[in-house]
Amino acid sequence: MEWFESWFDTPYYHLLYNNRDYTEAENFITKLTQVLELPQSSKIIDLACGKGRHSVFLNTLGYKVLGLDLSHQSIDFDKQFENENLQFKVHDMRNPIDSEPVDAVFNLFTSFGYFDNEQDDQNVFKSVYDVLKTDGYFVLDYLNEEYVRRVIVPESTIHREGIDFQIAKKIEGRHIIKDIRFEDQGKSYHFFEKVKLHTLETIKSYAEDCGFERIKIWGDYQLNDFEKDTSPRCINLFKKK
Ligand SMILES: C[S@@+](CC[C@H](N)C(=O)[O-])C[C@H]1O[C@@H](n2cnc3c(N)ncnc32)[C@H](O)[C@@H]1O
Repeated sequence: MEWFESWFDTPYYHLLYNNRDYTEAENFITKLTQVLELPQSSKIIDLACGKGRHSVFLNTLGYKVLGLDLSHQSIDFDKQFENENLQFKVHDMRNPIDSEPVDAVFNLFTSFGYFDNEQDDQNVFKSVYDVLKTDGYFVLDYLNEEYVRRVIVPESTIHREGIDFQIAKKIEGRHIIKDIRFEDQGKSYHFFEKVKLHTLETIKSYAEDCGFERIKIWGDYQLNDFEKDTSPRCINLFKKK
């Protein structure tokens, strides 16, 4: 099993990240949907939706939303929010998406860069491209390598409900690796997260090979312009030609 197939589906992953910022997510989505001028009738896929913080908010704004994630734990949790215009399904983003054509696909909060095999990366772009309507948008909210290199904290401890998560972060070759060790009820656990530091050029070539045009890069959740040396995020906006 690959690390992203197991770790994201453990209760420990959900415990470690139980303080995800919902306010930041909602402000970002508000700004993004305004800038994209997505009409109320739009259909949006939240690809790798996790616990649904963006999907649920998009739905409250009036959009028809499909949230997809590989983690059964997350999708089981998300099901409580379902309604006629908000559905969640287990789905591996490397596979074709079974849906009617949509107006936008969002992949948010570094939900890309997990795969060793380049073909898998390309398959993600192809699947997104195929499910979009012509002129549809793909938003890929990814990390910014320069920023990551500057702010990386090599070691830290996070306390959650009696568990001390020992976190060690390092950059190895073209990957950022987060090592996670802890004990629970006398048993030791070790997980890791491994995200590829894709360059802007690689991402652009994945997109253009499918027929996307990159029309904008924002550098943060307030949608300021991307600055290579300082921006915390690298938020790519692609349009299907
Ligand atoms: C960093 S989390 C972000 C979740 C969510 N977008 C958010 O902002 O809260 C990454 C998500 O990607 C999902 N994921 C990992 N590999 C996947 C795959 N191959 N297909 C679909 N989802 C995947 C994980 O289960 C996890 O929910």
